[in-house]
Amino acid sequence: MTSTSSAPLQRFLTGITTTGTPHLGNFVGSIRPSVAASRLPGVQSFYFLADYHALIKCGDPARIQRSTLEIAASWLAAGLDPERVMFYRQSDIPEITELTWLLTCVTGKGVLNRAHAYKASVDKNEAAGNDPDADVTAGLFMYPVLMGADILMFKAHKVPVGRDQIQHIEMARDMAQRFNHLYGDHLVLPEAAIEESVALLPGLDGRKMSKSYDNTIPLFTPRDQLRKLIAGIVTDSRAPGEAKDTEGSALFQIYQAFAKESETAALRQAYADGIGWGDAKQMLFERIDQEVAPMRERYQDLIAHPQEIEKLLQAGAAKARAVAAPFMGELRRAVGLRNLGFSAPVAAKSKAIKTAAPAFKQYREKDGRFYFKLLDAEGRLLLRSRGFEDPKEVALVISSLQQGGAVALTAMGNMLETAPGIAQDELATALAFFGISQA
Ligand code: TRP
Repeated sequence: MTSTSSAPLQRFLTGITTTGTPHLGNFVGSIRPSVAASRLPGVQSFYFLADYHALIKCGDPARIQRSTLEIAASWLAAGLDPERVMFYRQSDIPEITELTWLLTCVTGKGVLNRAHAYKASVDKNEAAGNDPDADVTAGLFMYPVLMGADILMFKAHKVPVGRDQIQHIEMARDMAQRFNHLYGDHLVLPEAAIEESVALLPGLDGRKMSKSYDNTIPLFTPRDQLRKLIAGIVTDSRAPGEAKDTEGSALFQIYQAFAKESETAALRQAYADGIGWGDAKQMLFERIDQEVAPMRERYQDLIAHPQEIEKLLQAGAAKARAVAAPFMGELRRAVGLRNLGFSAPVAAKSKAIKTAAPAFKQYREKDGRFYFKLLDAEGRLLLRSRGFEDPKEVALVISSLQQGGAVALTAMGNMLETAPGIAQDELATALAFFGISQA
């Protein structure tokens, strides 16, 4: 927490949904890099157990409690230092749900309609001929807003996530932009941090290791069980003595995620020399166990003492709330949820913006097609569309942009051309003007 350097701290924040038992893929893709990042100078890390998010997909209370315990124990066993890192449970911070509501009120419904997870459910329903929203809870629909509150509450700069979560970070940015546009500069615009070097770990069957494929190796499974699971990794039918391909070999990829470069090179050579699959599996088992065994012991000890973990989480919550509660007070005042004796400074800036507004202009070119462009408040060109046959299409695209903000911008990128020298942020800020009925 205490930093003596003068450079401003970069805040990293990420949440882990508490619905499962951590597996090797989670370790390689998230736990290990996050613990390493938390030790960098100049970085302040926020890692939390996203148990409100868990409620969206899991209706089994015992499983949520157990998963919260297992995930917390895994992070601690992997070396997370709760003195150095903000480590807390989402549901211990009631300010997060409070902020969720403020953000709900500045989020276009159209933006949420486009969220991948919600859209996937709708598409599936439509394909099956069901009502589009069959079995879709409002919780699933609101998932991105809750996640936005997680991120914006702690003014995170960087959010390390998998690719599937990038859209959510864009949405959080969009919410922050709209909020700031209406109420002044309070929220920090976050960015996704995608670890390019972290490979997706294949599972037992060679597909991505994932609970939904039932092909995982639990991170802290007992030694014997680990050996058994590794013996079950798919390989081809080549006999000992035949050269083997490292390309597409799940066993090789998993080994690589744990081994030093020289060790990986040695296994590559062994493949070329025709190592038998049994021996290769033994090598993999030894290599993983060597890394995991000390952590496993710590993990078992933590799991056996849930009260100790609870204490750490309570201390984490106290630290997190010391940040969240005053900030929430600031945001409440900003939106007008105020003590009646409070007199706010007049918001000169937002008035100026309201009189000079960005604008969409529609027009027809000599080619007979319909176009539109977006100008900023000073009349500078920000964006031009491609030509459309039908003016109705133009109107539709404009209204999607107005409601969907930066997220719609990404989705419709192929129809649009950004003017030279215009940054995405300028576009998003201009679009933020339209999204909410503030006129
Ligand atoms: N949605 C994330 C996931 O499923 C978990 C999560 C919740 C999260 N809130 C977050 C990640 C905030 C980063 C920031 O992986």
